Amino acid sequence: MSGADRCRVWAVANQKGGVGKTTLTVALAALLAQRGMRVLAADLDPQGSLTSYLGLEPEAVDRSAYELLLEQAPPEELVLPTAWEGLSLLPASPALATVDRRLGTRRGAGVLLRRALDRLRHRFDYALLDCPPALGLLMVNALAAADFLVVPVQTEHLALQGLERMLRTLAMVERARGGPLPRLIVPTLYDRRTRAARLALERLRQEHGEALWELVVPADTRFRDAARAGRPPVAYAPRSRGALACRALVETLLALPEAAGRRPAPDPEAQELARQALGAPDEGVAPDEADGEGSVGGADHEGAEEDERGVGGPAGRGGLGRLPAGAAG
Ligand SMILES: Nc1ncnc2c1ncn2[C@@H]1O[C@H](COP(=O)(O)OP(=O)(O)OP(=O)(O)O)[C@@H](O)[C@H]1O
Ligand SMILES: [Mg+2]
Repeated sequence: MSGADRCRVWAVANQKGGVGKTTLTVALAALLAQRGMRVLAADLDPQGSLTSYLGLEPEAVDRSAYELLLEQAPPEELVLPTAWEGLSLLPASPALATVDRRLGTRRGAGVLLRRALDRLRHRFDYALLDCPPALGLLMVNALAAADFLVVPVQTEHLALQGLERMLRTLAMVERARGGPLPRLIVPTLYDRRTRAARLALERLRQEHGEALWELVVPADTRFRDAARAGRPPVAYAPRSRGALACRALVETLLALPEAAGRRPAPDPEAQELARQALGAPDEGVAPDEADGEGSVGGADHEGAEEDERGVGGPAGRGGLGRLPAGAAG
């Protein structure tokens, strides 16, 4: 592979809100950077969560992905360093919310990002695109620019319906691309103690088995603590179950020829550690039924997660995603 096309672009997308897109983008980007890759994290969400996560105020950003899409600035000038070595940021600003209105009817509006990224590819090994929770032009641009798609899906019933809609949009973009966009569906915010989560995972496995990641990203309070602290979860609590799951996910992605570009040295422990962490016995597990359907419904279910140190977490809420049956291998 030559320098310019070595850069692999991963879009992290799902039009459903609060499923862990930004969290996963930060985690994957930080892990790749930690392992010596040059990584661009691009914030395509007008809310600018990724931008704030990485230490900038979207309202204070003077030039962002918006200028990139409208070709109002040279792409090289829009990329900013972050506090994390090897990790650069293409920030978002609120102006991105006007992209559909301003560009929606312009010819070629769906490939603006791809064109602009072409000018940046030589600087990076990986570019991760954090998409907004909407099936609009920004997501279409991300899907058109991507070499690979990561779809985080919250393991609950309504989220599965959202997934179908997202995949229909993808099919439309694939027709325009003239070929399939390889993908991995990643179950997130998984709380195995709830029947709803287990059923949702089961259904995902039946309907999307071949595109589904074999493990899960568990619901883990350390993710939210990390977001509050403005640090990638994998740096904030590297031994937490969530961080180990992300480490295993990077390893899975790097093993997929469609997703992998330049590869860091392998991390042979990653899958095994994640399996152990995800399969660890519960401590003080609450009965399923006591949990109720609703408790995994939102991304903000405080109690459904675990504090890895076993202190400070709500009593009887210690479970995490176990490796699902038949997923080993
Ligand atoms: N695995 C997890 N365990 C616990 N909390 C999580 C997990 N993943 C994400 N969160 C928390 O859930 C909330 C939503 O996550 P995030 O912002 O990553 O979702 P999103 O899909 O990017 O949302 P949006 O659609 O609004 O962009 C955040 O508070 C985040 O800290
Ligand atoms: Mg987000």
